[in-house]
Amino acid sequence: QSTATTWSGEVRRLARERDAVVLAHNYQDPAIQDVADHVGDSLELSRLAASTDASTIVFCGVHFMAETAKLLSPDKTVLIPTAQAGCSLADTIDADQLRSWKAEHPGAAVVAYVNTSAAVKAEADVCCTSSNAVDVVESIPADQPILFLPDQFLGNHVRRQTGRDNIHVWMGECHVHAGISAADLRAQVAADPTAEVLVHPECGCASSAIWLAGVGDLPADRTRILSTSGMLGAARDMTAKTALVATEIGMLHQLRKVNQRTTFRPVNPKASCRFMKMITPELLLRCLREGRDEVQVPPDVAERARQSVERMVAIGK
Ligand code: 13P
Ligand code: SF4
Repeated sequence: QSTATTWSGEVRRLARERDAVVLAHNYQDPAIQDVADHVGDSLELSRLAASTDASTIVFCGVHFMAETAKLLSPDKTVLIPTAQAGCSLADTIDADQLRSWKAEHPGAAVVAYVNTSAAVKAEADVCCTSSNAVDVVESIPADQPILFLPDQFLGNHVRRQTGRDNIHVWMGECHVHAGISAADLRAQVAADPTAEVLVHPECGCASSAIWLAGVGDLPADRTRILSTSGMLGAARDMTAKTALVATEIGMLHQLRKVNQRTTFRPVNPKASCRFMKMITPELLLRCLREGRDEVQVPPDVAERARQSVERMVAIGK
């Protein structure tokens, strides 16, 4: 019996013993994705966390995702293999900064990307993820100004998609996605002009991808801006020989699993999120054996943050 089989068998045994469901984000290490009960994007995993019958949720992802699961399932035990797994994007705004921003724009609706702390969600009106940001913004009356935070690239994408000019965008960014540049994308497309192009809206190249697709050298009918699971949906029936993927490289594992006809190539092979990769096979075992790290949210914050997340989950149901 190989070590890998022993490890995954032990994970499954301990998960059963704890009555735990193991959730993994699309950016997790392939071994973690393969051992999990469910793999998905932020929105899918939030929905699963809200509806699971298991008494414990083991969240293999970053801290804000586990916190969101705790908000939606307050009576369940939520564990993350290490609470150190943060998010550089979520760290670009705290609750005090948001309160000051709101004070400058009285009457504006606050839309917070799920990549935020529970304390920031508590100050927001509604959350969104990359897969429902446009629907969430369209659910707000057209004449009401919006504060969109914290990701500037996603905010600009939503502005373009909705055609609204009353959206104020916080200037945060994810260091991994901001590092996938328009120059990287153009060079890859030039080297492989028939490839399909899949771009996450958090990317630094997302704005130029659309611009280039409209007027420049990207194939307009083959360039799509999608959430991680949106990419999977698009990949399933793709027939192209190659696809260029602009997002964190953990995504390639699921893409390659659902479609073996197409070669999926990263636009930037160095785009790896060190926070996502803090969840190691050893720490997942420790988590299941020792019940750590447990995620808790102070009740006063949780109450208000939950409303923002629940409003989001209800949109599109
Ligand atoms: P998704 O919602 O597309 O899974 O993205 C989450 C994330 O952290 C992107 O960096
Ligand atoms: Fe945060 Fe970026 Fe990592 Fe996503 S890829 S978890 S936004 S740091």
